Amino acid sequence: MPLRFFVNGIESPVIEQPVDPAMETIVQRFGLSRDSAQYTFRCAMPMAQLGQTESLRVEFRPGAGRELSPYQDWYLRLAPGLQADVTRRVRVAATSDPIFFESMGFSACLAIRRALREYFNRDYADYEAILDWGCGCARVARFVTEFAPHKLVGIDIDPDNIQWCKENIALARFDCIDVDPPTRFADESFDLVYGISVFTHLSATDQDRWLAELQRITKPGGAVLMSVHGEIAFFRGDSDLQRFLALEKEGFYLYGRCPDLDEVMPEMKESEYYKNVFHSRRYIYEHWSRYFEIVDVIDAVIAGHQDFVIMRRR
Ligand SMILES: C[S@@+](CC[C@H](N)C(=O)[O-])C[C@H]1O[C@@H](n2cnc3c(N)ncnc32)[C@H](O)[C@@H]1O
Repeated sequence: MPLRFFVNGIESPVIEQPVDPAMETIVQRFGLSRDSAQYTFRCAMPMAQLGQTESLRVEFRPGAGRELSPYQDWYLRLAPGLQADVTRRVRVAATSDPIFFESMGFSACLAIRRALREYFNRDYADYEAILDWGCGCARVARFVTEFAPHKLVGIDIDPDNIQWCKENIALARFDCIDVDPPTRFADESFDLVYGISVFTHLSATDQDRWLAELQRITKPGGAVLMSVHGEIAFFRGDSDLQRFLALEKEGFYLYGRCPDLDEVMPEMKESEYYKNVFHSRRYIYEHWSRYFEIVDVIDAVIAGHQDFVIMRRR
């Protein structure tokens, strides 16, 4: 299927061969060419064509040029921002590529913002207290704090990443929490709660305990946005029909253990707390609605494969 690329609304040429090295392109500016050999095409928008801009919106359109959902757009900042070192980045995002890491964080921040505007008619700055549950090394929180300085609290069970956040992000507060709820927060503390790629790692029992805890600390009417591995994420990583049927039948599918936290939290090996799990769409509507009103589920928003569950505290 042919794909067309638009950068800040301008269609970009797709070329098969390496570009003229004298011409500065997005590919070179961002160092993207390093991995591009594995792909069958390159998108080479000359920077000169973009004029003065601080960030890029990269939009993909299939075949005839029909627009996809704006939640599928990718965003990149031209000036690289502060980032944790590679070990910390790999631990939360499974990529050592700083540009990909940066763009996933920025894109997730803007996708949440789009959803807040679309479903709640609000922006980050309209909220009083924002919780980033499972913030890691602030891949997303770093950008959210720019829209809402001094309103965000980031929490995580990973002490090393929380320490990094405390030392490097001034506009928010960070706290290391226990693996098991409850947290130290009072009832109804936050009016916006989001968690990127956290429920993708918890057992069904831990999921339920954390859904109840998040419900407790969210204000009535508050917005709760969580990413999950849904059917699209499953097919991106697996094509086994039996496993897919099991996901559809059970709704919750335990894929296996995730070793990503083993190095900083050796106790994880024994407890097998951290896993890789998938949720069917039907399960989200049937099961999660015991805790929150399900407002919508948006396909493959986070990093191009995790679905985004938009909820409201009743
Ligand atoms: C895949 S990483 C994503 C990190 C961050 N949200 C991001 O998008 O970069 C998942 C994070 O959830 C954290 N985590 C796991 N269980 C948690 C829990 N019960 N409460 C808070 N954080 C948790 C992990 O330590 C890890 O940092």
